[in-house]
Amino acid sequence: MTLRVGVLTGGGDAPGLNAAICGLGRRLIAAHAELIGFRDGWRGIIDDTTRSLHDVDFQRLLIQGGTLLGSSGENPYREPATMVPKVLQTIARHRLTALVVIGGEGTLGAADRLWREHQVPVVGVPKTIDNDLDATDFTFGFFSAVEVATRAMDDLRSTADSHGRIMAVECMGRHAGWITAYAGVASGAEAILVPERPVHLEDLCANLQRLRATGARSAIIAVAEGARLFENGVCISCMEKDQFGQYLTGDAALLVAKRVQARIGWEARHLVLGHLQRAGQPIAFDRIFALRLGARAARLVLEKRYGQMASMQKGEITEVSLHDAVAARKTLTDKFLDRYESFFLPMGGP
Ligand code: F6P
Repeated sequence: MTLRVGVLTGGGDAPGLNAAICGLGRRLIAAHAELIGFRDGWRGIIDDTTRSLHDVDFQRLLIQGGTLLGSSGENPYREPATMVPKVLQTIARHRLTALVVIGGEGTLGAADRLWREHQVPVVGVPKTIDNDLDATDFTFGFFSAVEVATRAMDDLRSTADSHGRIMAVECMGRHAGWITAYAGVASGAEAILVPERPVHLEDLCANLQRLRATGARSAIIAVAEGARLFENGVCISCMEKDQFGQYLTGDAALLVAKRVQARIGWEARHLVLGHLQRAGQPIAFDRIFALRLGARAARLVLEKRYGQMASMQKGEITEVSLHDAVAARKTLTDKFLDRYESFFLPMGGP
């Protein structure tokens, strides 16, 4: 009997998704399995909308950004009473042997529950530009996003210097500061503001004034969208929370630029890099990394090792339990932040 395997990509897209589909598809097709793509993440399984992956030129797919399957943030556990039965029906209708789920925390969390609660034979592949998934050294898409943010900060230096300005550059990452920290360090930003440490405006401004007194014409401030800003001990960042009880992110760089200019009179502008960080072709590392994770997922399917996620541990491609992988969010460590602060300017918090 031919092995029939479903695949979906869920959550925010990340450069390398197509490469992961390529790694999975080539391995499975070589093993004479049939691969069926579901459109737009979990929505495709709930509504049973598919895309044939029969005649896809995987070799060419590898280099393309985005995901040819489409993506969405839909989750069967949003309305479990109606949506979970639909998921089970679609899997039965297509006589799927396994379902490969490529996604971040939310998408993989649903896969883990379907495996544990309904024995749906799932295999996970981690992706997110945020790099905030535990149980893997990195997620693909992260380094492509870091590259975009680094280049943007590099390029902004000349205009910042021309005008003697501060540029506050907002990076994605939700509640993790990985992109901001990596890009900020790589481009020599004068300050890096991340959600993992509160930002005290008084300290940040004092540091910037000291810097200006040394003759610096410009300063680049890398600001994570989730950075929390305090002035006179009071949080002045957005206090609204999302459905998971987490503070809403965004507009952090605007706030930094406005408050810094108002406090010390150093002209400041802001730029939100936004979805550019998820756009375009993956860098070579992410292509190869995603390809290998996809191929490992195929192996897990062929060996019937469900409830597992392909992962990178200490530089090696391996696998971990999906449940362990979604149990904790990975944020910047104190070690990373302390080391940074000992090299460059303090980030503004005690
Ligand atoms: O999780 C990936 C991510 O790009 C975050 O960094 C960002 O906060 C969010 O998705 C943006 O989501 P959307 O595409 O829904 O605006």
